[in-house]
Amino acid sequence: MVRGLLPLGAALLGATAVLAVDPPSCALDKKCPQEAPCCSQYNQCGVGAYCLGGCDPRMSFSLDSCVPAPVCQDKVYKMGSLDRYKDIGEYLGDPKEADWVGQGEPLAHNGNMLLTMPPKSVGTVLASTTYMWYGNVKAKLKTARGAGVVTAFILFSDVKDEIDWEWVGVDLHTAQTNYYFQGIPNYDNSKNITTADSYDEFHEYEIQWTPDEIKWLVDGKVGRTKKRSETWNSTSNQWAFPQTPSRVQLSIWPGGLATNAKGTIDWAGGEIDWNSDEIKHYGYYFATFGEISVECYKTNTAPGTNKGVSYYYNDISATNNTVVDSKKPTILKSFLATGTDMNKGDGTSSGGASSSSGVHAVPGGGASPPGQVPGGGNAGAGSGSGSGSSGGSGNSGNSGSGNGGSRNCDASEFTQNCGQNTGDTGTNPNTASTERALGASAFAVIIGIAGLLLL
Ligand SMILES: *[C@@H]1O[C@H](CO)[C@@H](O)[C@H](O)[C@H]1NC(C)=O
Ligand SMILES: *[C@@H]1O[C@H](CO)[C@@H](O)[C@H](O)[C@H]1NC(C)=O
Ligand SMILES: *[C@@H]1O[C@H](CO)[C@@H](O)[C@H](O)[C@H]1NC(C)=O
Repeated sequence: MVRGLLPLGAALLGATAVLAVDPPSCALDKKCPQEAPCCSQYNQCGVGAYCLGGCDPRMSFSLDSCVPAPVCQDKVYKMGSLDRYKDIGEYLGDPKEADWVGQGEPLAHNGNMLLTMPPKSVGTVLASTTYMWYGNVKAKLKTARGAGVVTAFILFSDVKDEIDWEWVGVDLHTAQTNYYFQGIPNYDNSKNITTADSYDEFHEYEIQWTPDEIKWLVDGKVGRTKKRSETWNSTSNQWAFPQTPSRVQLSIWPGGLATNAKGTIDWAGGEIDWNSDEIKHYGYYFATFGEISVECYKTNTAPGTNKGVSYYYNDISATNNTVVDSKKPTILKSFLATGTDMNKGDGTSSGGASSSSGVHAVPGGGASPPGQVPGGGNAGAGSGSGSGSSGGSGNSGNSGSGNGGSRNCDASEFTQNCGQNTGDTGTNPNTASTERALGASAFAVIIGIAGLLLL
């Protein structure tokens, strides 16, 4: 995945040349500097939105650089309007203000929400503003279709535990399931479930997650069960099992972008055709999300409680016994603030994403005016300049990591592909299967450069 993104990052970097200083990158062995203390989901350092959802405390300047994560709320999300949606550049951490934050171009349509991917864009991603620490989540959805077009519905934690549903648009009868512990690659975790047509019909996809097992269900029928007891890693002496508070993330992204690695494109079913019938008829690829419902895990004792206001980690190991269900606040005063200085600044505008000091405030973009179609116009391109260099530098950060240990791999902790040889053309079956198995996670990196999409 990383490889595939390199040219993209480079292109973006070139296109947006020197308009902003690249944010520093972060990894387990390279924490963020004090002046840009928060390590974003895309493994880059900044303040403001970098310290909110997706901020990885293990890679940040200190554990408390990241803002505590809003606790789980039982909720049924009607997806028929954008009233409860905010662009990542407009959200400061109050879940009362929005149910979803995102980037890209979501559209309300006929009581549902379309996540769209217009020509030459990197699609759309939404993340819930509250977290789930175990529990059940259901989504009624219709996937996108077309070669290279990927639809995803996942749970993703700030320390990169992940539980996935994912579909490639050339196979409308297969739902792919997967999971990760702390972003560590494991090539055997992926399993397919055969379904009825996923584009024409709504189906209800569900994740039931407890400290002991994960179940993936389609229309109420269990398609896969993974038990924690099957996940012991005797090297690290721990369960390689998702166990930390996670956001619900919904996305459509271009696995088949011509500039992606061949293995990624193959996994996604081939290169995207930006002149397809779908594009001609609708103007974009799209996935349709109906109702989403979250049922928090019911327990009186940790792990898995939701009694307080927010979750934070009290230890860098980031296992389920290090999560604290607390009363700490979750809201930043401005995009200059951080977890350790939540009242800094007073504006609520992200316009100063690249402040005079060069510190970034909105990871992966967000500077586009609301409603701007990603990549659809030059305004988006221009205003995305700061994020453009974000995306570029994240990927170039990865390029330096050629060693086999995932721990040493900068952003590839997240993209989970760091041990791979960057010269590979995708003909190595191992690599190809790696990329197939790891497809789910790539979206986040691609989406990390959303907002600039000028290919
Ligand atoms: C799942 O199905 C896809 C095709 O839809 C295929 O590429 C992939 O190899 C399958 N994965 C597994 C684990 O069988
Ligand atoms: C077990 O943990 C080690 C250390 O984190 C990791 O390198 C390895 O990939 C893990 N093994 C599996 C099968 O996940
Ligand atoms: C989570 O915590 C519980 C109770 O402390 C423990 O029994 C369980 O093994 C933990 N689960 C994982 C995946 O570490």
